[in-house]
Amino acid sequence: MNETISTILRRRSVRSFLPDAIGQDELDQMLEAARYAPSAMNQQPWHFTVIRNPELLLKLEDNCKSAFLESNVAVLREVAKQEGFCVFYHAPLMVIISADPGAIAAQYDCTLAMENMMLAAVSLGIGSCWAHAVMMFHATEKGKAIFRELGLIFPEGHQPYAAAVFGWPEEPYPEAPPKNADCVTIME
Ligand SMILES: Cc1cc2nc3c(=O)[nH]c(=O)nc-3n(C[C@H](O)[C@H](O)[C@H](O)COP(=O)(O)O)c2cc1C
Repeated sequence: MNETISTILRRRSVRSFLPDAIGQDELDQMLEAARYAPSAMNQQPWHFTVIRNPELLLKLEDNCKSAFLESNVAVLREVAKQEGFCVFYHAPLMVIISADPGAIAAQYDCTLAMENMMLAAVSLGIGSCWAHAVMMFHATEKGKAIFRELGLIFPEGHQPYAAAVFGWPEEPYPEAPPKNADCVTIME
């Protein structure tokens, strides 16, 4: 198996991180990989907001958690009530990719860029986990207000489309969850 495919297969959602920061060099490599993702008509509509201020991450964590606890979606309330529940898994870094919704395919472009970041991260020994809670939180009026209050402002007209946390894994990568192979139709 070649190195690229082995890296892709090795990527796992990591949910337990060491507190150590990710260096600027590693971050730059991950961002460069993201910027080389394909995008519709090469619009590259993305902007990368990197949060590595521990206080800010903690405030965002607390606010997301409270929103889950107060949510009218029962499953979110249940998840947030679980002992040790942590939206960001104490990761030292979070990246939010935003874009102008008027771009041809903003969501796809941002998602592809995030996957490139995650794969670059694995190749550097860094773990990652998609953090959908951030999108759900930002989709609410209260969430938007808290983002503004925390100074988390995206470029004018931008909407966040992808968020993930990154950090040095505390443990070896977990085993892959079951991956369904019965999802291919070949027509020849
Ligand atoms: C759109 C999307 C949203 C996700 N949201 C979360 C999340 O909020 N929290 C979390 O822990 N994992 C989240 N995940 C990670 C998935 O749970 C994970 O990818 C899946 O269980 C497969 O495991 P693997 O990534 O190790 O292959 C999300 C993944 C995707 C693609």
